[in-house]
Formats: sequence, structure tokens, C-alpha cells
Amino acid sequence: MENKSTLLEVKDLCMYFSVAKGIFSKKSYVKAVDRVSFKINKGETLGLVGESGCGKTTTGRTILKLYEPTSGQIIFDGEDITKKSQKSMLPLRKRMQMIFQDPYASLNPRMTVGDIIGEAIDIHGIMKGNERTERIRYLLNKVGLNGDHINRYAHEFSGGQRQRIGIARALAVEPDFIVCDEPISALDVSIQAQIINMLEELQDEFGLTYLFIAHDLSMVKHISDQIGVMYLGRLVEKGPSDDVYLNPKHPYTQALLSSVPIPDPDESKLTKRIVLEGDIPSPIDPPPGCRFKGRCRFAKPVCSEIDPELKEVEPGHFVACHLFK
Ligand SMILES: Nc1ncnc2c1ncn2[C@@H]1O[C@H](COP(=O)(O)OP(=O)(O)OP(=O)(O)O)[C@@H](O)[C@H]1O
Ligand SMILES: [Mg+2]
Repeated sequence: MENKSTLLEVKDLCMYFSVAKGIFSKKSYVKAVDRVSFKINKGETLGLVGESGCGKTTTGRTILKLYEPTSGQIIFDGEDITKKSQKSMLPLRKRMQMIFQDPYASLNPRMTVGDIIGEAIDIHGIMKGNERTERIRYLLNKVGLNGDHINRYAHEFSGGQRQRIGIARALAVEPDFIVCDEPISALDVSIQAQIINMLEELQDEFGLTYLFIAHDLSMVKHISDQIGVMYLGRLVEKGPSDDVYLNPKHPYTQALLSSVPIPDPDESKLTKRIVLEGDIPSPIDPPPGCRFKGRCRFAKPVCSEIDPELKEVEPGHFVACHLFK
């Protein structure tokens, strides 16, 4: 087997936001990301899934050092960047980019496409003049847009086209690693597949490594080599994409998968839907034990006492659940 090298590793990463509950009470924390660990190999994709508010975006932003991590380690291409200052991060910013969830909010509608893509080129002082213009045109073509659109404004484009501009902007500085934060969630279903396919082609062509964030597993299954499932700041399951998708172990992953509509009528007859009851608890000062226990069909006393650690239950397949010894 080919020997794969790790591009990104996070170890026990924590990102807590302090929130004031009252004037006299002690500080509380939103444990948005809590002891999360994973690795992504060069040229591969880790799909990160979970319900709204479970900490996906915060994980991505913390890795890019847009937040100062509370604790843990971020190792990028062999270098520990956890404590790097914003200034010393600048050369790495070129290598680590992000594509945002909402292509309407993330692009300034009053800027031209050329300025949006060119801005990234300028910050890193990569090229100027004609060379810069040619590069922007080349990038527009790469993401399936017309190079002649360089002087049009972002507001003139549809959602799908705007996301293509966002992708071109991320590619402008020739990154190695891209956090794709729900890049297709805001788009029409008919356009989602086009954008996913394009991201896969770009990955192959440029050897890109992705952290690909989504709400549900069906969206990331195809593009991901590995899948991680998050629940309330914790990674509850991770493993090779097919293993997690076809043989989910954690009761939460099972519930997430069974909420995916199955188009084939015969198949859906065979599938019993697991309905998740109860609301997601507050991420502020979560109580001891497993965070999923209040909604879990299999909860037992130990689940209220001990927070289960991620354990390898099959080769490469990890689960944090007391059902697995
Ligand atoms: N800057 C912040 N200050 C305080 N709390 C925050 C901050 N950013 C995020 N949070 C909280 O951290 C938790 C995780 O938020 P995050 O945006 O990472 O979730 P998400 O999984 O990306 O959700 P979505 O699917 O809706 O995008 C939420 O409870 C959120 O309210
Ligand atoms: Mg998010």
C-alpha cells in the first residue's frame, strides 16, 4: 500500500468561549470544540458532520488560527502551529484557505470579481499587472466561469456562481489545505452536485487536502476518505467513509443516517427511522457523562457518570460510546 503522509493533525483540540452568565456568578464556558483529535492525509478529505451548533465551523476556524485555541495542538505539515502569532501565521495563510457556507455573505457585492480574487493575490504579494490579470482569468476558467467576467460585480451572480468565485478566491494563493465550510448547503440541490464534482476535480488536479464540513453524512460520503461525526463539541465517531456510512456504531450516527431520506421506495420500507427525541442540550458547562445520553435509546447509568473516550472498535474505526468495550 502507498505510504500516506499526514498534512494536518489536531490533538485534543479545545476551543472554549467564555460567556458571562450573571454579574456575580463565575465565568461559564461554551465548549464549542472539546478534546477533538484527528489526522488528514495529504490529498485526502475528512468529512466533518453533525447538527447545527455542534462545533464544526469553530473546529475549522480554530485550525486556521482565526481563534486562539484554548488547549490542544494543531500540527500542519509537521510543524506545531498552535502557538504561532498572527504575524508568523502569514506565510501559512497562503497554504491554508477557507470556503464559506454562505456565498452571499462572504463576498462583498460591491467588489468586482477581479478585485475579490485579486485581493488574496495582493495580500501575499504573489504577482502584479498583466500576470495578475491572467492569473485571475485562469482561475475563473478553472471554476467554470468566463474569464471575461473579471470586471463584473459579485451581486450580478447567482448563488452557485458566487460559490465558484469563493472557490477561485481560495485557490488564488495556491493553497495545500482548504476548509470547505458547508460550501453547498445554501445552494439549490441541482447545483450542489456540480460544485462537489468540481471540488473533487480541483482536488485531484492540485493535490488539495480538504476538511469538508456538512450537516448530514449523505452529502460528504462521496467526497470523503474519512468521516468524523461531532456532537456538542465532541467527536463521537470517526473512521473510513464507507465504514462509518455503512456500519455506523454510535447511536447518534445511526440516528443521523436514518434521518436521510431514501429515494428508493422498496429500500425505505426496510429502513426503520430512528427519531431523535429531545433537544440538543446547551453547550454551556455541559454536565458530566456522555453528552448524548439525554437523547440516546441505549443510555445506562454509566453514561451519566463517565464521558466516554474515543476507542478503536475496528481497525481505523473509532467510537466514543459505553456500548463498546
Ligand atoms: N464567537 C463565539 N462566541 C461564543 N460562542 C460561540 C462563538 N462561536 C460559536 N459559538 C458557539 O459555539 C457552538 C458551536 O458553534 P459552531 O458555529 O462551530 O457550530 P456549527 O456546527 O458550525 O453549526 P452550523 O451547522 O449551524 O454552522 C455554538 O453553541 C455556538 O453558539
Ligand atoms: Mg457552521
